[in-house]
Amino acid sequence: MRGSLLGFVPTMGALHEGHLSLVRRARSECDAVVASIFVNPLQFAPGEDFAKYPRTFEADCRSLQMEGVDVLFAPDVAEMYPNGSVTTVTVSEIGDRLDGSSRPGHFTGVATVVAKLFHAVAPTRAYFGQKDAAQLAVLQQMVRDLNFDVELVGCVIVRDWDGLALSSRNKYLSGIERRHARVLHRTLLQLQGMIAEGERQSTALVRGGMETLKAEAGIRVDYFAIVDANTLLPVTSAETGTLVAVAAYVGSTRLIDNFLVA
Ligand code: PAF
Repeated sequence: MRGSLLGFVPTMGALHEGHLSLVRRARSECDAVVASIFVNPLQFAPGEDFAKYPRTFEADCRSLQMEGVDVLFAPDVAEMYPNGSVTTVTVSEIGDRLDGSSRPGHFTGVATVVAKLFHAVAPTRAYFGQKDAAQLAVLQQMVRDLNFDVELVGCVIVRDWDGLALSSRNKYLSGIERRHARVLHRTLLQLQGMIAEGERQSTALVRGGMETLKAEAGIRVDYFAIVDANTLLPVTSAETGTLVAVAAYVGSTRLIDNFLVA
């Protein structure tokens, strides 16, 4: 396999079309594709949804096989974190922004498991959904800082018929919550419209977006932010490449969505 390209799609299972789009992209760009399924306890804080996170292993295996994945790596917790493991990877500063601010320790859990998976799989390219834009920025920083010889590829967000970004957590939503959740995408479309009409000031854009979000019953906004896509630091003006990102609780389910300014 020397000189050939190995694509890697790390997942926590409960696969949907978003994950499968990563696999298809990896397939189209690489000579062989490895996928992993591992619900990583380290990236869930106490009280979060680790225990109830959807686990659909048999169906996931069938989907990955149908998509032509060459190898599935599905370790258990003891294999990933043998007794006595104490070393973690913390991506300082950037790891505490956006989701890292609302979910302390989350990105240490993500960076640690992804570093270990990269060591186990040794991929040439690894594919991540752009929906988790902050995760992608944190992992890019980790790859640079720790000299991982892997290219990270961010892939477009896949949406359901009503605009809701696909997420394994959408399964938690009741019918009414699902209708409330549509406001995330609607707000992002509104912002795209404002930007297309020439509004670039972050304060005005955030004000407009927050009004729409707050008008929706059943939603609790976690953050609505206009930031540099690499550093996740706030910017005053939404220029090309700027990340517009939202996180909100719909009932007890936390959903995220975003777009990059064109
Ligand atoms: O995005 C995810 O599904 C997870 O955070 C990842 C990258 C598989 C690490 O557990």
